[in-house]
Parts: sequence; structure tokens; C-alpha cells
Amino acid sequence: EAQLQALAPMAPVHCFSVIDSTNQYLFERVNQLSSGESCLAECQTAGRGRRGKPWVSPFGCQLILSMYWRLEQGMAAAMGLSLAVGVAVVEALESLGYPGVELKWPNDLYYQGRKLAGILVEMSGSAGASCHLVIGIGLNLAMPSQQGEKIDQAWSELRHVQPELVDRNQLAACVLLHLQAAMQTFEQSGLASFVESWNRLDYFAGQPVKLLMGEQVIRGIARGIDDRGALRLETDEGIKVYLGGEISLRRG
Ligand code: BTN
Repeated sequence: EAQLQALAPMAPVHCFSVIDSTNQYLFERVNQLSSGESCLAECQTAGRGRRGKPWVSPFGCQLILSMYWRLEQGMAAAMGLSLAVGVAVVEALESLGYPGVELKWPNDLYYQGRKLAGILVEMSGSAGASCHLVIGIGLNLAMPSQQGEKIDQAWSELRHVQPELVDRNQLAACVLLHLQAAMQTFEQSGLASFVESWNRLDYFAGQPVKLLMGEQVIRGIARGIDDRGALRLETDEGIKVYLGGEISLRRG
């Protein structure tokens, strides 16, 4: 932690009670922002999830935050970034005394087999130029049960990990600091320095899984990720790698 505190001071944090989407807020302002600038909200009216799905974010029940980053190397260099973000968030939680949180490829946080948090990285830019990244995180803290019914999959919340929740400002600051440090590392050396940690946290490690790609179903044993963030699957024909896109992974 001392190492993290020694980093450059935090960039501005824009805080809202209610907002459409913290990702949207930053995305609309990319030209005026500097790397590390963030947006926090108590509630979103149009929270965005991956694959165009809505993200349910009732008032005061989640950590809802987004961080802006300008990646000088451009869009191609952003590949695998969301996996590094997952590692950063889990390590932030570990440092606050929340053990046992895992990662489900490509980038969900899981606790005891249920989704604890989601990550949505959105980017814009043109080939050969620096690109704008908005990294969004929605982490369930304590969700009201009637709201939970709107969520289309088994979910968990931070109070299941540890009933005594740390102060939310402390949690936000800790996640932002870890995220900022991870982005600096990622910018310098890409995903490579996160791969070992990701594989340590892999929810499916060594388990039979099935990959759903459109109509296609591929079965194998999950063998972590490679240096690009591709999923390694041990199949009858040896290790195969899959690089994301419209793929979903289930216990097989
Ligand atoms: C997922 O589908 O798993 C990703 C969910 C990401 C939700 C967060 S909440 C903060 C940020 N703002 C958004 O509109 N979405 C992300």
C-alpha cells in the first residue's frame, strides 16, 4: 500500500448522486480529461454492461466507478487490458481484507461461483494514433433482494465475502489507486506482468468448461490465459487458444 500511496497524486474524481452512466460521462468528455480522471456515482439510470446489456445499479448498493486513460500506443495495444483491470480490482479487495475473490475469463469478478462485479472497457480512436479508454467497474456491495431479481445470473455481493464492510470512500480510493497503478504498468509493459496473477485468481482453473461461440460449443479443460489474454483450453487435439469476441464460458 505504501508503494501505491507514493504514486503521483490522484487525478480529479467527478462524483454524482445520480447519473445515466459513469462510462458515458467520461466518454462524452474524453478530449478534456487526463489519464486517471474518474467518475463515481451512487446510482445509474442507464448503466451499461457488456454485450449491450443494461447494468442494474440501484442507489447506494454498489461501487460504481469509471476511469479515463489515454493510451499513447493506440488501440491495438489495449488488447488484454480488461484482464489487467480484473487483477487490479481483486488485488485492491485482497489488500482490504476481502479474500477468495476470483476472476472468470474474460473479466468478471466471482465469489463462490457467483458474479460479484463486472468490468466494461470502452475505447475510441483511429488506427496509428493514441486512443481513449474508459474503464468501468460495477461492484455489488449490498443489494436489496427485490432489485437482485432483475439480474439475469447468479450474483454475489461484497458483504457475503466479509459482513463488516469497509468504508465506501476507502474502498473507492483503494480501487482507484490500484487501477491507476495497474494502468501505468500496463502502459509500460502490457499484459505480461499480470498473467501470473490472473492465473492464480482463475475461477475455472483446471476445470471442465464449455465455450459458446454462436452455434458452436467447444469443450475442454480451462488452462488459464496466455500473454495476450487469450483463453487456453486443453482439448482432445491439444491446447487451443481463444481471444475473446462473442464468446461465453460456462462450467462444462
Ligand atoms: C458487465 O456486463 O459485466 C460489465 C458491467 C460494467 C458496469 C459498470 S458500472 C460503472 C460503469 N458505467 C457503466 O455504465 N457501466 C460500468
